[in-house]
Amino acid sequence: MVKRVQTGIKGFDKLVQGGLPENSVTLLIGTPGTGKTLFSLQYLHNGATNKEKSMYVTLEQSLEDIRSQAKDLGMDLAKAEKTGMLTLMHIPIHDLTLNTIEQIKKEAEKRKIKRLVIDSISTLAVNAPVYTPLKDLALRDVMNYKAFFSPPILGDFVVKRFIYGFLSDLKQLGCTTIVTGEAPEKGEFLTRDTVSEFIADGIVSITFESMGGQYSRSLLVRKMRGTKADEDIHPLEITDKGLVIHTVK
Ligand SMILES: Nc1ncnc2c1ncn2[C@@H]1O[C@H](COP(=O)(O)OP(=O)(O)O)[C@@H](O)[C@H]1O
Ligand SMILES: [Mg+2]
Repeated sequence: MVKRVQTGIKGFDKLVQGGLPENSVTLLIGTPGTGKTLFSLQYLHNGATNKEKSMYVTLEQSLEDIRSQAKDLGMDLAKAEKTGMLTLMHIPIHDLTLNTIEQIKKEAEKRKIKRLVIDSISTLAVNAPVYTPLKDLALRDVMNYKAFFSPPILGDFVVKRFIYGFLSDLKQLGCTTIVTGEAPEKGEFLTRDTVSEFIADGIVSITFESMGGQYSRSLLVRKMRGTKADEDIHPLEITDKGLVIHTVK
């Protein structure tokens, strides 16, 4: 039996047989403003207040921003940080190097982190071509990709290879991890990078769509390893007390 890690997000855990599978990597995808960051923070805050060591890594927002965003939903992150159960880490894009991934992994191992969030893989991946030296690519790989003379496509290849490596590494960490990702507005793939959706153990997608002139958010569990997941689309509401996933029936 797979052990479950309760997110504590109202209405979510029962969609996935009680929680996220322990040691899994779940991709939380959606267009901007769908609530991915809030979902992530609530997952970690619930963990930290239940004495599970939690770590949030953002590549997008300052920590002041994050703490204040959480406060609007009734979460006191600073308090959880003081107990040592929650670690917030901000890595500005211009500080990203090849060592960043190592640095995140080391920190998670050192602090014996059980719940980890990376927000977002899209920001990390978009910058991968900048900090991946060409010498690190096997020539054979590049030739196979038939993109040797086409730098933009080569950049795309670097992104895919980077994501593959990163998510595979994350799976070895022993954390129950959520990685957020930007979903394209349209198209045949769920994610912009088109590969993370295949590697992740689980995919949860949040959409923000207009229905009868009013915009509303909804959540769908697209896949979840070892789980008989609920296949309905559920309305997601952001309230002052946090996210609520409603049941349709
Ligand atoms: N207290 C609140 N009540 C209702 N909606 C809120 C509240 N706080 C934030 N939001 C909504 O949540 C959105 C931000 O969610 P966020 O998790 O940052 O999105 P994402 O990470 O997917 O871009 C905002 O656009 C805002 O509309
Ligand atoms: Mg966000």
